[in-house]
Amino acid sequence: MCGIIGYVGRRPCEELILAGLERLEYRGYDSAGMVLLDGEGMRTVRAVGNLAELRKAARAAHAEALPATTGMGHTRWATHGRVTEANAHPHSDTHGRITVVMNGIVENYARLRAELQDAGVVFRSETDAEVIPHLISRHYGGDLLQAMRDTVALLEGHFTIVAASADEPGRLVAYRQETPLVVGVGKGEHFVASAIPAFLPETRDAILVESGEIVVVEADAVVIHDADGVVTRTPARVDWDEDAAEKGGFETFMLKEIHEQPAALRDTIGDRLRPEGEVDLPGLGLDDAALARVERVHIVACGTSFHAGLVGRYLLEDWARVPVHVEVASEYRYRTCLAGPGDLVIGITQSGETADTLAAMRVARERGAHVVALTNIMGSQAVRDADGVLYTRAGLEIGVAATKTHSAQVVALALLALKLGRARHVLSAAGAGDLGDELTRIPDLVQEYLGSPAAAHAMEVGRQYADRPFFLYLGRHVGMPVAYEGALKLKEISYVPTEAYPAGEMKHGPIALLEDGSPVVVVATDGHVFDKVVSNIQEVRARGARVIAVATSGNEEIAAHADAIMFIPRTPPLLASVLAVVPLQLFAYAVARARGLNVDQPRNLAKTVTVE
Ligand code: AGP
Repeated sequence: MCGIIGYVGRRPCEELILAGLERLEYRGYDSAGMVLLDGEGMRTVRAVGNLAELRKAARAAHAEALPATTGMGHTRWATHGRVTEANAHPHSDTHGRITVVMNGIVENYARLRAELQDAGVVFRSETDAEVIPHLISRHYGGDLLQAMRDTVALLEGHFTIVAASADEPGRLVAYRQETPLVVGVGKGEHFVASAIPAFLPETRDAILVESGEIVVVEADAVVIHDADGVVTRTPARVDWDEDAAEKGGFETFMLKEIHEQPAALRDTIGDRLRPEGEVDLPGLGLDDAALARVERVHIVACGTSFHAGLVGRYLLEDWARVPVHVEVASEYRYRTCLAGPGDLVIGITQSGETADTLAAMRVARERGAHVVALTNIMGSQAVRDADGVLYTRAGLEIGVAATKTHSAQVVALALLALKLGRARHVLSAAGAGDLGDELTRIPDLVQEYLGSPAAAHAMEVGRQYADRPFFLYLGRHVGMPVAYEGALKLKEISYVPTEAYPAGEMKHGPIALLEDGSPVVVVATDGHVFDKVVSNIQEVRARGARVIAVATSGNEEIAAHADAIMFIPRTPPLLASVLAVVPLQLFAYAVARARGLNVDQPRNLAKTVTVE
């Protein structure tokens, strides 16, 4: 959840650390800190707020950047302890000789803290992380590697730790237990970080550290240790486009990423779809015969990825006639899991790091189900924890509110549905070919839409309704998860209280929320439930609600039922979900911007949720 960067080399590293933290800010941004080691001691700066505040605090602490060539930084998303400077990382031991940054959670910290307090240690923060420098200090006899080994043996939970000792200024020692850790390999310098973008402008050579490994980095050496000794691992070359991390002319990352959806969808389909609906997904780890034997599909995910899973259910059930169960991972992981051999479990997580989704996947895998990770991040934990993988190819997504990764997930699920449909002989070659053709057209239709006056109109409608204190979102069938996702986007970035409900269920409660002028956003695209949705629209209008409809271009009937209409291009009804979410993203975006909010870094949220 938090972001970490460390540097050891020959260059003054203060600016490298600050710039690296800025690229990790999507992981957390309620407070930040850094420590610089210059051979004489440790200089720590911390601040509440985003990286701009840390820069100010650094300038206040020392007018000129310090010449230190070893250091590390941390950007925090609070889990244990309030958002205060005292709780910001780095944390140090009592003597100020050991310093630590951590991402994750130490689950047994309360007991460890009590033991340390009994032994006379005075704590200066409310965090779980602070036990770590005190424990390292207790075990330190001049060798930080050994002290780290002794310390992590006492810790339970999932975390990445980077530690430094004032007595070993040219060295950082890092440990990873589940949460991510990568090493950037430069010339006469090394980085350790939570994610590759932290050091991408400095080096493209990266080593992925595995869970349970300790890595010691110095200017000229990287040594990885596992339980059995030293591990040899060669760096991999990262070929990401550095511009991907820039806004490319758009005012925000979120708007840029909304406009990147055609490319994300095109790349996700890529060369996987062949004539006659044949789909090539070798990463699944299941051949056609094994796919034909799949009895049930379980989809586990959180947030926006969960909504993609809900859309996927309609596709999989319709095209492959396989029963599909979709559940939020935080619930699935604690139910009595009845998955087993014969079940295909799909964990959807754009980041590949969401703790609840990983846990749900693990539970299902232990029961013998075949688990597939549907993710956007190569080599992420979800991939390592799964039997197979289905990658979206959406590119790096910086905006905390997921947009392009969501639509890419839906398209990836459509590919899977086609493949399963063929393998299970539900779809004929001709039928699958037609669906494949329709799917291939979707990226062009999204592109056409985004460049059309209709997209500008969706934003205009958002601006018109930006001052409303409450929104209700409704949808039926595949329009229901689209409504959920549209509502989540609005909540996340505009902070406007919003309810999303299946349209047919609305009269069983939420209708009581409506009063004269309440805006109700309705997904009313063409399909077999269109007339039903129109009936639901009439129910809300009878209570004075103002209806904002997402409808299919060419549908003239909707004009009689809606106060504002956001038209999308015509597609087969099930695939309309990919198009229909786009005006809702733009609508939410326009509301949030009209309210003057930072859509890329909404309050209280983090891009990657590596805590339960
Ligand atoms: C998306 O806009 C949200 N920020 C959030 O709901 C997100 O989808 C959720 O945390 C799951 O993330 P994941 O896909 O990386 O697992």
